[in-house]
Amino acid sequence: MESLPRLVIMASGNGSNAQAVIDACADGRLRATVAAVVSDRADAYALRRADLAGIPGVHIGRRPGESRADYDARLADIVTGFDPHWVVLAGWMRLLTMNFLGWFPGMVVNLHPARPGELPGTHAIDRAFAEARDGRRTESGVMVHLVPDEGVDDGPVLATETVPIHADDTLEAFEARMHATEHRLLVATLQRLCAAPASTLPLTHGATA
Ligand code: GAR
Repeated sequence: MESLPRLVIMASGNGSNAQAVIDACADGRLRATVAAVVSDRADAYALRRADLAGIPGVHIGRRPGESRADYDARLADIVTGFDPHWVVLAGWMRLLTMNFLGWFPGMVVNLHPARPGELPGTHAIDRAFAEARDGRRTESGVMVHLVPDEGVDDGPVLATETVPIHADDTLEAFEARMHATEHRLLVATLQRLCAAPASTLPLTHGATA
């Protein structure tokens, strides 16, 4: 039987983007398997979505007193166990150190609700909307990029799309447009990555340092 590229999705919250990927795999639009959904938060709805889809949902919380470096090493160990071809950060809201990233060179993909170089960090949708209300922008966007290092929402861009902010938009309307764009762009990008011949996929894990 043909073996499909394996995805590990990492998500801290609602997981609507994780759901878009799960659905695309389930209906055959994305020829890949979601091997696991991993969350740093026990109450992340993304874990419930995994459960409902019959996919392992793993909560990996930071232990009291545990350093970021130790947490990331433990996270890498568990994610490696799912043997991913691609690690997909879909609303993962914790900064990752090289203790994690070093194990997945060229394999970590991040989704961010802003265009390259704009609005890194949390609440990018709210901040873009506030800037529009102040007359400082009329559009924002979405990007999917590789995560080679500890730069925040920064790295080689795989796909980006501009999203308009209309004069009569509510935050809710703009947010819905942004999320619809994210769901589409993330799936399209993964379709492209997963269509690469198996021989060109990274099959082994190894620290770069
Ligand atoms: C998405 O908008 C994603 O781009 C963003 O978190 C949201 C998660 O939504 N990620 C970042 O802001 C990363 N800096 P979801 O849980 O419904 O998929």
